[in-house]
Amino acid sequence: MSWKTIDRNQQVVDPKAPPVLTEAVREKIRSFFPRYETKRAVLLPALHIVQDASGHVSWQAMVEIAGVLEIAPSDVIDTISFYTHFWTEHKGKRVITVCRSISCEVMGGAAVLEELKTRLGIEEHQTTPDGKYSLVTEECLAGCDHAPCLLINEKLHKRVKPADVAKLLADPENDRIPVPRSDLFDAPKDHGAAEAGVGTTSDVQEMREA
Ligand code: FES
Repeated sequence: MSWKTIDRNQQVVDPKAPPVLTEAVREKIRSFFPRYETKRAVLLPALHIVQDASGHVSWQAMVEIAGVLEIAPSDVIDTISFYTHFWTEHKGKRVITVCRSISCEVMGGAAVLEELKTRLGIEEHQTTPDGKYSLVTEECLAGCDHAPCLLINEKLHKRVKPADVAKLLADPENDRIPVPRSDLFDAPKDHGAAEAGVGTTSDVQEMREA
């Protein structure tokens, strides 16, 4: 998300509104407590869990996360506003992330971005009215030798030219990569190991075996 100036006198969360975090989501957040020395340290996993469940992290969800972790809501806002990965409003079914770093810049990334803006009719960090696409820019996507690059959800597209944009947008299968996503932020499966403070996800397992 981008930086926002907030009027602190304006209430953004109705204290009488029903909760937005389900008990299952709260339980999943709590399942991470044994892995860390403090509840505060579970903030990033909590944000991933809530965004995975709802597609975004609303202002009210931030307040409720703060309640589960026993921290101030401002701590949650400080963290979420630092990472462009997190959304405070609904995002599109597909998120297009255009690289804005130097290799892609010199190879024509800006022209690709302009073509996307024109075809989608939106600016950066906006979502099309039909909810199909959101558009953002990020620093290096780790495909510099194939610049310019962009991501559509999880799939990296390399050496993209403005003329390719229409074809990319027309392809309904353009957002998948043929490998499973990381389960780093999934709840621990082995409660015994979790209680001992040992992560059980494949990522952690790989690090231990390396
Ligand atoms: S500079 Fe664009 S992928 Fe690295």
